[in-house]
Amino acid sequence: MQYEVVLPAAGSGKRMGAGQNKLFLKLLEKPILVHTLEVFQQDPACTGIWLAVKPEERGFIQKMLEDYRITKVKGLPDGGAERQHSVHSCMKEMQQVDIVLVHDAARPFITHDIIAKLVQNAHHHGAAIAGVRAKDTMKKVSMNGIIEETVDRESLWMVQTPQAFRFELIMEAEDVAEKVGFLGTDEAMLMERLGHQVHIVESSYENVKMTTQEDLVFGEAILRKRGSFNH
Ligand code: CTP
Ligand code: MG
Repeated sequence: MQYEVVLPAAGSGKRMGAGQNKLFLKLLEKPILVHTLEVFQQDPACTGIWLAVKPEERGFIQKMLEDYRITKVKGLPDGGAERQHSVHSCMKEMQQVDIVLVHDAARPFITHDIIAKLVQNAHHHGAAIAGVRAKDTMKKVSMNGIIEETVDRESLWMVQTPQAFRFELIMEAEDVAEKVGFLGTDEAMLMERLGHQVHIVESSYENVKMTTQEDLVFGEAILRKRGSFNH
């Protein structure tokens, strides 16, 4: 089942502390952004890629697309101050499609099988997001550093991207959020506040977001383990 993907790539990577957009850092010789783009370039079900970029980085990214033969990009609109704004700016340029996937450009290890499950699920139910079960014992801690309670781990999931939606549902949720000035930390939150059910699809612990320096070490280890079969 076909889909188009929105990749917000207009962040600044403050927590990585590299003094540049972290997506340009290399993992085994290739920029993080290219690893992510190749997942979608090589997935036959993906019919279009939308990239939100910083205006001053557009030229550099376009050159990267040429160098690595990424041909599915349909648009590179300006990103915004927050990730949600960046996603919305892509959505506003898209033609209506059945299913749209939103995926952090900083998560290069997503696989085609998880994407396919998300797309199927969103097709049937409207909204589905990737997540993994919490592994550690979870505690709720008060502001002064004292444990309030141990939270039942069975019901706790750590959510990731991709997040997949029927086009008209996510478009409505984003338009409403913009209108009322609501800022969510993921797209699912925008759907939840409108009362839409969002399904979770069990993903992989390898689908990590390159956020801080140590993630680069995990990232290279994952690539080495997978060899040439990254996706
Ligand atoms: N992103 C974006 N526009 C923003 C902020 C973030 O398109 N205004 C993108 C990032 O480029 C990244 C994804 O959203 O691909 C996830 O965000 P995050 O991991 O937080 O990346 P950064 O915001 O770049 O990093 P930091 O928060 O450490 O500054
Ligand atoms: Mg950020």
